[in-house]
Amino acid sequence: MRNSRILGIGHYVPPQTVTNADLTKLMDTTDEWIQQRTGIRERHFSGAGVGASDMGADAAREALARAGVAAEDVDCIVFATLSPDVDMPASACLLQERLGISGMPAFDVRNQCSGFLYGLAVADKFVKTGTYDHVLLVGAEVHSTGIDLTTRGREVAVIFGDGAAAVVLGPEDDPAKGILSTHLHAEGRFAEKLWIESAGSRARPRLTEEIVDGPEARLFPKMEGRYVFRHAITRFPEVIHEALDANGLKTQDISLLIPHQANLRISQAVAMSLELPEEKVFNNIQRYGNTTAGSIPLALYEAEQEGRIRKGDLVCLAAFGAGFTWGAVLIRW
Ligand code: ACO
Repeated sequence: MRNSRILGIGHYVPPQTVTNADLTKLMDTTDEWIQQRTGIRERHFSGAGVGASDMGADAAREALARAGVAAEDVDCIVFATLSPDVDMPASACLLQERLGISGMPAFDVRNQCSGFLYGLAVADKFVKTGTYDHVLLVGAEVHSTGIDLTTRGREVAVIFGDGAAAVVLGPEDDPAKGILSTHLHAEGRFAEKLWIESAGSRARPRLTEEIVDGPEARLFPKMEGRYVFRHAITRFPEVIHEALDANGLKTQDISLLIPHQANLRISQAVAMSLELPEEKVFNNIQRYGNTTAGSIPLALYEAEQEGRIRKGDLVCLAAFGAGFTWGAVLIRW
């Protein structure tokens, strides 16, 4: 069986920058609190009427151009997001229309911070098995319209930002190169530790004024931050070791670790646990916050642009997030 490899990466970040100081005008928080707890200095918010597929389409165009693949030659579209443009249909279908192409399958993956890795695992299998030659995988989030930008929602609101990135996957004939393996996990009993309860099918009616704006508003993300943090710093190293073991590799073999950008302190704790030096771990959360499904490909894009990834490098992608879900992917560049 052939391998798959990343042929090109693209990105899109909305122009509006929102600093921690800007957030202090909306809620009771401080730049010091946000930076100390998360490392975040600023994030980007998209403008009115801009959905995940709009940002994703810009990222996709750049990825296709860099891959040298025409949009018409895309065989399948996978779109990872927790903030789809509309409840239905899939943002993948909207993106397909924006790219001016049609006919190929297009679907969404809704696995939050692990969404890009879940999507990558699926895309990889399509290429590996020869089902498709070119899969377009997009990770994009518009969080700014879905967070509670008041003191009530401050614990979650300060960590999220908008952003998108995309990769084009294609065949790699050398079995020692490209995506070496993908490793995914989930533990649904922790679903309520980090979730957005409404508007969902359980509530009748799905939306009421109380759900939207009552003291116990349920339209916004809720998170038991410390609980999530503790699980994250255990699961990240665990799944990275699993991926390395599966390939007969050791932590010292990793050229660059790109963790999902949830919190700089999580990345630092994971690096310490794996005994990886700072220069082997890529972080850009300081400038973007947590862009969820967009975070890993956005970091991958910047790492490549900055020359932090070279031919032959072993790149490890890893994520942990709501579900709980987590995963790791090893790539020989
Ligand atoms: N500004 C000022 N104070 C705040 C803010 C804020 N924005 N938010 C909370 N506080 C207060 C709290 O009310 C609390 O006050 P108290 O001690 O008087 O009760 C105090 O700060 C400390 O709050 P903690 O929750 O203990 O803060 P913590 O150090 O845990 O940091 C954080 C919170 C940043 C959310 C952290 O727990 C975290 O990063 N957790 C993991 C996040 C994560 O990885 N999520 C997964 C990915 S997201 C996804 O999948 C969609």
